[in-house]
Amino acid sequence: MKAAVIRKASFNAAHRLHIPKWSDKKNSDFFGICNSPNFHGHNYDLEVKVIGAIDEETGIVVELKWLNKIIQKEVVKRFDHKNLNMDTKEFENLNPTVENIAVVIYNILRKRLDKSLDIKIKLYETNKNSVEYPYSVD
Ligand code: NI
Repeated sequence: MKAAVIRKASFNAAHRLHIPKWSDKKNSDFFGICNSPNFHGHNYDLEVKVIGAIDEETGIVVELKWLNKIIQKEVVKRFDHKNLNMDTKEFENLNPTVENIAVVIYNILRKRLDKSLDIKIKLYETNKNSVEYPYSVD
């Protein structure tokens, strides 16, 4: 009997979408205001979905207190109130799009969770834009 458990978290961070090998004009045309040279911020809302078997003895999939601790330590502490381009090694050479941030968060958390558990990240950059990773069609 499997179930999906979802834990939410949020962090605020600044970024700039920019591809160094492109001209300033191409960057500006492509990324628009997100290419603004002096950065801008977002309030990122994160949902971490953990899918696994409900343990027969405890009745839980994953200990939420532990999951929250991991999310806070590995994601929120790392990215909250940071300039993603300038203050984090993860985005030193990686464009901090919401897609890439979702993948980075997935890779960080994947390492911390037991192999028997599947995980999925949903990251909202605004209340209208979000990314899921890994994706599913339905
Ligand atoms: Ni942006």
